[in-house]
Amino acid sequence: MARLYTALCIALLCLTSCKQTPFEEESTAKKINTLRRGKVSDAEWSKVYAGKQVYETYCSGCHGVKGDGKGPASAMLSVQPRNFTRAMFKFISTPSGSLPADADLHRTLLRGVPRSSMPSWAMLPETDRANVIEYIKTFSERWQTSPPPNALTFGNPPTWVGSLESAAKGKAVYAKMGCANCHGQTGLGDGNSAAALKDAEDNPIKPFNFREGVLKGGSRIEDIYRTFYTGLAGTPMPAFGGILTDEENWHLVSYVIFLMGKTNVKEADLANIPVVAATDSTKHK
Ligand code: HEC
Ligand code: HEC
Repeated sequence: MARLYTALCIALLCLTSCKQTPFEEESTAKKINTLRRGKVSDAEWSKVYAGKQVYETYCSGCHGVKGDGKGPASAMLSVQPRNFTRAMFKFISTPSGSLPADADLHRTLLRGVPRSSMPSWAMLPETDRANVIEYIKTFSERWQTSPPPNALTFGNPPTWVGSLESAAKGKAVYAKMGCANCHGQTGLGDGNSAAALKDAEDNPIKPFNFREGVLKGGSRIEDIYRTFYTGLAGTPMPAFGGILTDEENWHLVSYVIFLMGKTNVKEADLANIPVVAATDSTKHK
């Protein structure tokens, strides 16, 4: 009888203390997170807390429970998952070096990151994506201290992007900017410094080989323009916004899509055009 009583007591104790109610779990999590991480207001917290559930279900296996990019699966990946504690993002439409706009993170989650193991999360409900984005922001104080500035607006692509003349001018820009040092003369990703390149986490990183694969930042000409303008933070790929004129940047897009085999421009025709510098008359910065 006494034994049964003890067993019952233990069972009861477990029921009341071992198992936290969702409310208790939420407030513990809230305490831990608000102590350890950036300030999250009570109003924001429920979104952030919902985002934590999404994160720990779908993302932490790669990005790590602590957001440091060191989840259990990361050891098997050649391209390492983003370390969110650094708050450095590759795919931004904000000025180079700043945090991404929410729209940038949404785009990345919808599309995934080609040439890496980062999947598309298009199958998640929109609110899950929105909430997990809020949760990612708790991994670094930077979201409080230097929040993302307004997204840049770029003009529409000129109609001549992809033409023979534009590709020829882009070829000159490619030479002038030393793209070949990393990407190689013909864009095969085999430039002189290619083998030694490291990212911000000190992991080896390969320059893009224009002949294979799709673009991480998106393959529309607008996406390529934006990638050149803002660079890819945390990688050796520089930002050319403010260095190249608008026109030079579009010519560069023409040359790169030629190298990718996405235009009708023939190699022989391009070789026949003398390399001329893209016009400087439109310099606007
Ligand atoms: C199978 C592994 C894996 C899973 C699961 C995963 N990611 Fe990633 N994620 C990656 C890798 C790898 C990268 C880096 C890609 C690169 O830099 O080329 C990345 C990059 C990112 C980036 C950085 C984008 C930028 O602009 O730099 C964000 C944001 C991101 N992931 C969010 C998420 C979210 C949110 C989830 C869960 C819903 C998730 N990831 C699940 C592997 C994963
Ligand atoms: C110092 C080395 C370096 C230089 C110089 C450089 N790049 Fe890159 N570039 C890289 C690396 C590394 C990547 C791959 C980044 C990644 O996978 O995250 C890259 C990626 C790219 C991509 C692919 C972007 C995407 O969305 O996947 C393009 C296109 C590109 N570079 C074009 C250029 C052009 C054009 C120039 C010259 C104007 C240039 N790069 C100069 C290192 C360089």
